[in-house]
Amino acid sequence: MSKRFYITTAIDYVNGQPHLGHAYEKVITDVIARSRRSLGQAVFYLTGLDEHGQKVQQAAVAEGKSPQAYCDELAQSFQSLWRSLGITNDDFVRTTEPRHKEFVQAILARLHAQGQFYTATYKGFYSTKEETFLTDKDRLPDGTFDPSWGEVIELEETNYWFKLREHQQWLIDYLEANPAFVQPDYRRNEVLGFLKSQPLEDLCISRPAARLSWGIPLPFDPNYVTYVWFDALVNYISVPAAHGDATVLAAAEPEPKTRDSGLRLWPADIHVIGKDILKFHAVFWPIMLKAMGLPLPKQVLAHGWWQKEGAKISKSTGNIVDPVAVINEWGVDAFRFYVVRELDIGPDGNWTDTGFKARYQAELANGLGNLVNRSLSMLKRYRQGIVPARSDGLAGEAARVVADTRSSLENHRLQAALLAIWSLITRANQYVDQTAPFKLAKDPAQAARLDEVLYNLAETCRVLAVLLWPFLPGTATKIYAQLGLCGEPDQFAAAAWGGLPAGHQLGEPSPLFPRKEA
Ligand code: ME8
Ligand code: MG
Repeated sequence: MSKRFYITTAIDYVNGQPHLGHAYEKVITDVIARSRRSLGQAVFYLTGLDEHGQKVQQAAVAEGKSPQAYCDELAQSFQSLWRSLGITNDDFVRTTEPRHKEFVQAILARLHAQGQFYTATYKGFYSTKEETFLTDKDRLPDGTFDPSWGEVIELEETNYWFKLREHQQWLIDYLEANPAFVQPDYRRNEVLGFLKSQPLEDLCISRPAARLSWGIPLPFDPNYVTYVWFDALVNYISVPAAHGDATVLAAAEPEPKTRDSGLRLWPADIHVIGKDILKFHAVFWPIMLKAMGLPLPKQVLAHGWWQKEGAKISKSTGNIVDPVAVINEWGVDAFRFYVVRELDIGPDGNWTDTGFKARYQAELANGLGNLVNRSLSMLKRYRQGIVPARSDGLAGEAARVVADTRSSLENHRLQAALLAIWSLITRANQYVDQTAPFKLAKDPAQAARLDEVLYNLAETCRVLAVLLWPFLPGTATKIYAQLGLCGEPDQFAAAAWGGLPAGHQLGEPSPLFPRKEA
């Protein structure tokens, strides 16, 4: 069996309801996953939840719940949002599941036996919020710690540490030899800059159970639980192990108990993450994998951060975007469209309600919606919904857009793909205005010309449905249904011009994006 295209998202902390940032990441990953499937690849899309650690424990205590009960409730919210967003994940990992915990312990036992860990006492500053030890290097010029660290306390603690420093030069060399490993390029340069400017501190991989009980016990020392980030990163391989991927099974146990299922996932093709957790994925994770003797993921793709109306998204100030509310009011495809169209993968973005409405009106309702509705309505009115003979008036332009979209999708340039697709929408709307089928319909001598125009429009709508499928799956399927076509437009190959046969009977046209009152 050949290896699947394995794509993952960050696993979200369960310390509140899912928000715009979480939803954005799952949507862009879904678009990549769907486009790969459409292009004919077998895909495995993994997402899930990061349930251990101080943040989650504190949030549960604040609500008077046990951490597990608290996580179970929120897990429902996350999973139900992903279903309503049309996210096509193949598995959903929760780090409190036995399949994950047992694998983490097996890895820890193995690395411990290999002498990768040592104990040391550390005295210094600690951010409980980020569960990170801080040093004088983390101080601001005025000597204080940035408020984003939350409360900073002084701590003296003995813990287990993982040796990172000896791998520093290897990682620098790896990043330099593999420019695609961290994308975009400016993020790769950040990682290289960080690695070249200072010696790498070893990573503390334990927390005393007396201080923090909500974690995976170290298999070799019951007085400690595993540092939440060590636990969380391992999800990317614990799930393949649970599915019987022999590549990762070998890393955990010399003689794996789990049977090789033949499925091959690891190494991941892409880890999609936010820029704030780049160091964990581009520094700690590769070194962990190297110590385990596993190949590295092919790419860490870091997206930017959303703000709302120019300010940090924050629950305390009420400055949030609730994806559920947006979907209920505007529909799931409007949400998916706005976030992908507005923000390329990389830079930071800014959600504005007026910007959202403007794109809905101009690009969805007046652009795509109007094109499909008037094209199919005219075909119904003038030709009883029966497709005329093939005509290639827009074939060349469509083929160009199909090629552009394909190459953008292959390079994960999702915004660029949408721009290409919308250039075809704009062109086809101009074509309606230029050819004026409503005038042609009044002149019996123009019947053949009207046939041509109507074919070009209907066929363009069909091609668009195929191109739009990874982005707007519900809309794409509706366009297919209105064209009287069965199934879903989920195979990119079907974007080739000429798929609508003459004599085919259309379905019923109906508006895709109803206009909203101001
Ligand atoms: O970091 N805009 O979880 P998390 C865009 N559990 N993306 C955002 C965002 C925003 N405003 N806010 C958060 C964690 N994100 C860890 C990950 S992975 C082994 C463990 C993104 O819930 C963030 O960048 O804080 C991250 O990729 C994801 O949401 C989960 O963030
Ligand atoms: Mg975070």
